[in-house]
Amino acid sequence: MNAQFDMNDFTEIIVSEKQIATRLDEIAAQIREDYQGEELLLVGVLKGAVMVMADLARRMPPQVQMDWMAVSSYGSGTRSSGVVRILKDLDADLTGRHVLIVEDIMDTGMTLSWLLGNLRSRGAASVEVAALLRKPDAASVDVDVKYVGFDIPNDFVVGYGLDFDEKYRTLPFVAVLNPKVYGEA
Ligand code: PRP
Repeated sequence: MNAQFDMNDFTEIIVSEKQIATRLDEIAAQIREDYQGEELLLVGVLKGAVMVMADLARRMPPQVQMDWMAVSSYGSGTRSSGVVRILKDLDADLTGRHVLIVEDIMDTGMTLSWLLGNLRSRGAASVEVAALLRKPDAASVDVDVKYVGFDIPNDFVVGYGLDFDEKYRTLPFVAVLNPKVYGEA
């Protein structure tokens, strides 16, 4: 693939395309083993999880199912308010289902904490989380993430689903955004 991007927009690549693929192979193998013989529903959280969902789901047996939610935090104007609003709900009924939430990143943990509570209240047989990235230094709530790709520093990162101003989601890697892009250098 010949993606076009300017490396000057980033100060550092923190997770390469190859590292992502290798780690997803490992996580997918673990998930296949853990859910052997069970029907699994992957729940992706729009929009950031689109890339990791596509790549993780293709490492699952073809019986795996996908559904999507879109949520938005509101209150103080930041995504870390802890108050979450559903913009698009699941199509699936979760009663008796084994559910795995698929996220690109856990930052403060507010979104996942709320989602776990919400989905667990719907009668699922189990609800677990797979997150490609986690920022331990940013966490403000304790969330049990069963499958984690990479723990990363508390920098402004973009790529592989993560955006700045809706841009850079399509990068094949995860990179630290150069402050010049958002006007601070
Ligand atoms: C990002 C990410 C998580 C959430 C994590 O989504 O995809 O859903 O933030 O942050 P938290 O741990 O502090 O709650 P965002 O709200 O940026 O929307 P997007 O996925 O559409 O980019």
